[in-house]
Amino acid sequence: MTSLRMPPGADPARPGPDRPLTVWVDGEPVTGTAGQTIAGVLLGAGRRAWRTTRGGAAPRGVFCGIGVCFDCLVEVNGLRDVRACLRRAHDGDVVVRQVS
Ligand code: FES
Repeated sequence: MTSLRMPPGADPARPGPDRPLTVWVDGEPVTGTAGQTIAGVLLGAGRRAWRTTRGGAAPRGVFCGIGVCFDCLVEVNGLRDVRACLRRAHDGDVVVRQVS
C-alpha cells in the first residue's frame, strides 16, 4: 500500500503564507499573525496576564479560552470588556489592559 501524496501547492487545507500584523498593547507594538485572537497575539508575545481583579489585584489572562469565564477582558479600540480569547486581532488594534 502506498500513501497518498499531494503536492503542497495543491493541498486546499494547507494554510497560506503568514500575514503579520501589529497590535498596540498599552502603547507597545506586539506582532502576531492574521487569524490569531487578541489573546493568541498576547500569549505569543509571552504575556500571560493582562488584567487584574478589582479585589486583590490578582493577575488574569486566559483561563477557559472559549469565551465563558471572562478572565481575559481587555479594552480594544476604546471598547471595554472585550473577551480577548474571542476577538480576532486586526492590524493596528489598540489594546489596553483593564482592571475589574
Ligand atoms: S479566557 Fe475565558 S472568556 Fe476568554
